[in-house]
Amino acid sequence: MPFGWTWILMCALSCISLLIFTAVFPSLQQSELNSFLWTIKRDPPSYFFGTIHVPYTRVWDFIPDNSKKAFQQSHIVYFELDLTDPYTISALTSCQLLPQGENLQDVLPRDIYRRLKRHLEYVKLMMPSWMTPDQRGKGLYADYLFNAIAGNWERKRPVWVMLMVNSLTEVDIKSRGVPVLDLYLAQEAERLRKQTGAVEKVEEQCHPLNGLNFSQVIFALNQTLLQQENLRAGSLQIPYTTEDLIKHYNCGDLNSIIFNHDTSQVPNFINATLPPHERITAQEIDNYFRQELIYKRNERMGKRVKDLLEEYPDKSFFFAFGAGIQLGDFGPLTDSQPNLPHRVVVVGIRWRRRMM
Ligand SMILES: *[C@@H]1O[C@H](CO)[C@@H](O)[C@H](O)[C@H]1NC(C)=O
Ligand SMILES: *[C@@H]1O[C@H](CO)[C@@H](O)[C@H](O)[C@H]1NC(C)=O
Ligand SMILES: *[C@@H]1O[C@H](CO)[C@@H](O)[C@H](O)[C@H]1NC(C)=O
Repeated sequence: MPFGWTWILMCALSCISLLIFTAVFPSLQQSELNSFLWTIKRDPPSYFFGTIHVPYTRVWDFIPDNSKKAFQQSHIVYFELDLTDPYTISALTSCQLLPQGENLQDVLPRDIYRRLKRHLEYVKLMMPSWMTPDQRGKGLYADYLFNAIAGNWERKRPVWVMLMVNSLTEVDIKSRGVPVLDLYLAQEAERLRKQTGAVEKVEEQCHPLNGLNFSQVIFALNQTLLQQENLRAGSLQIPYTTEDLIKHYNCGDLNSIIFNHDTSQVPNFINATLPPHERITAQEIDNYFRQELIYKRNERMGKRVKDLLEEYPDKSFFFAFGAGIQLGDFGPLTDSQPNLPHRVVVVGIRWRRRMM
């Protein structure tokens, strides 16, 4: 049986795409498309909105007015991380680095290091041809972009290099230069002088990834490089792309916005030809991420949301979190009565999907 290797990866600004809810959804009507908005019934109401980490211009027109109105009417907007805070960015950057004095060349097996280096040279060479006239018109240059993403790669921890390699594909490069939806919302919140906040600390997003052990990381990096090498050789097509993700998001297709299909940021090795011991490693990594990045995170974020709502009963909150959904897969957070439609429970909070 082929297995799906599930990854939750970090994008440029390291937002894990993840929603902290699950529910039994009714079949979607046309009019409900892309209604990634849930209402918490109280007075004034609060909202929960599923964002996506792609250029906002690709999805903005498809976001229904009720979501935009909810955003405008809310007093306080909460994100996973505060992406507009320079501290967030610098903390993320340093969390990704190897300990002082260490270098990837010292850490990685020779073969892996050599292939990594070769692949990055290839990317650097190809980058000018991957960029669009539009990007060039905005003054975005290939050298600059390459350095912004991959500069200092020799100092990064292997797991972060692996994530980086995954975001250095032609499709992803073409979408650089426009704020992603979550960042755009943060900028809008600032512009509208809303109070903003974040439910997570950088370390909480970063440390779990650093916690994969060495053999697991090497395995993941090796697989990622193999995939990229196959792509380069033209013998492999990426099974899911950012385009698919955007399409599904715009169609409000919850079932398809499952993080393990989000391969623009996520390598998804559905490969039954892996030898058994490698398959076991892939499964272990998958389990680890599930535990660390879904279950534990759900619980933590859910609790903070709940505390905020209780502390400020007269405020209207808008929680904008990444929309990666794993239906029926949230263990203790799942409603114990899953037969009720529209019902979402996050650690005791009932979210109701907003109908148009
Ligand atoms: C890494 O973790 C896996 C699964 O927990 C374990 O089997 C393996 O021995 C560990 N490897 C190292 C080098 O610690
Ligand atoms: C990388 O993966 C291939 C194929 O699974 C394997 O043959 C090779 O030994 C791996 N290399 C390293 C350094 O783990
Ligand atoms: C599956 O894995 C094998 C061995 O690692 C590799 O040779 C093959 O190219 C992979 N197939 C895909 C589609 O990645």
